[in-house]
Amino acid sequence: MTSPSTVNARVKAKAINMPLPRIPALLAAALLVASHAASSAPLSNGLAKTPPMGWSSWNQFGDNISEGLLVETIDAMAAKGLRDAGYVYVNLDDGWQRFKGSRKDHPLEADPTKFPHGIKWLADYAHAKGFRLGIYSGPGATTCAGYTGSEGHESEDAEMFASWGIDHLKYDSCCSHKDAPKTEVQRVVLKMSKALLAQSRPIAYHACHCGWSDIWEWAADMGVNHWRMGQDISDDFNYPGLREKYYFDVLDMLDRGAKLAKYAGPGHWNDFDMLIVGLKGKSGQLVGTGASDVEYRTHFSLWAMVESPLLIGADIRTLDADSLETLTNQEVIAINQDAAGNAAEKVSENGDLQVWAKEMADGSVVVALLNRGAATADMTVSPRRDLTVPWDKYRVRDLWKHKDLGPYDIPFTTEVMSHEARILRLYPLEVKS
Ligand code: GLA
Repeated sequence: MTSPSTVNARVKAKAINMPLPRIPALLAAALLVASHAASSAPLSNGLAKTPPMGWSSWNQFGDNISEGLLVETIDAMAAKGLRDAGYVYVNLDDGWQRFKGSRKDHPLEADPTKFPHGIKWLADYAHAKGFRLGIYSGPGATTCAGYTGSEGHESEDAEMFASWGIDHLKYDSCCSHKDAPKTEVQRVVLKMSKALLAQSRPIAYHACHCGWSDIWEWAADMGVNHWRMGQDISDDFNYPGLREKYYFDVLDMLDRGAKLAKYAGPGHWNDFDMLIVGLKGKSGQLVGTGASDVEYRTHFSLWAMVESPLLIGADIRTLDADSLETLTNQEVIAINQDAAGNAAEKVSENGDLQVWAKEMADGSVVVALLNRGAATADMTVSPRRDLTVPWDKYRVRDLWKHKDLGPYDIPFTTEVMSHEARILRLYPLEVKS
């Protein structure tokens, strides 16, 4: 059923036909890293064939985390059906460490007050309940929140994480290497990748560099499973400008990733940052006064379509019913977890009205009709024009209404509310080339 002219095939064709990059005058350090890419096979841990799904502590709690919070979160994720919906990673972000200050002056240990039984105990608890445990560090002497980092101790730390039963590492160079040359960022990312691969335990690897140094161009070959493609998210759908000249709202992040679809695929993903669904302006960490349920639903749908990891950032224990319903929509999760791993691209744009699309493994195409404007609008998708598929007749499944529509042999038109994305899965019924 898959046609070579469909939406993601066009993206890939563009990537294949791209001119080869000019060879710039590289510094000696650059040659070292480049020689890795040229001479060695790409590194791979074989993990994250679909984008990782789970929860991360940062967006709601910042460094105010503890064993009690993690245990309650794990229990709540199981009880509320989130584990069974696919959210299996439970990721400690910054703030689990005992010491603030340089690694030169302090070891890397878990804070015994926050985590009295230690991290291995917590990993065992998570595993017993069907979850995986993630942890956080960075290549600097300190992390973004000022705790001890892994600089100079990469192998030792990878070994320690593996011995604890850790399943995922977020390795954050956003602060320590913000102004470092690309080759230096590549060097530290590669160093930890090799340290993780040397462990007998498979550990998924997130290299967090806030969307700098063109990380999408090189991280996959270094064994990185996902990389942030932008700065930190704020709890806003569309804040005017960049908050504090740094934070990206949902639409900023989407725009930032609009040309990155070709870098995503099984095992290596653009990370649009952790979800803000359910924060509702109550985050102890993020800036922003929150978004509406419609906007959170749009955000979730689009993160699913662009193949971002789906890491919930809200307090699971107090998650409201609308947010839970949004996060557990199996038809939308299925877009994100599709075996083909095609990331959506923007296929048409008319002012505030955008059509995004991605091709699924079964040859159906998922379309987002996104209305970024202030008023309800009619939006249309034409399979032949917008998706370049040779379909004469097709049916439409509305993934939020859970309803089949059609069949249609003309373009499909529907009303889309302000800040809504209608998410439609189109299936061919009659195909003529
Ligand atoms: C950076 C990252 C965030 C978070 C904090 C922790 O800002 O981008 O996602 O991990 O560091 O300090």
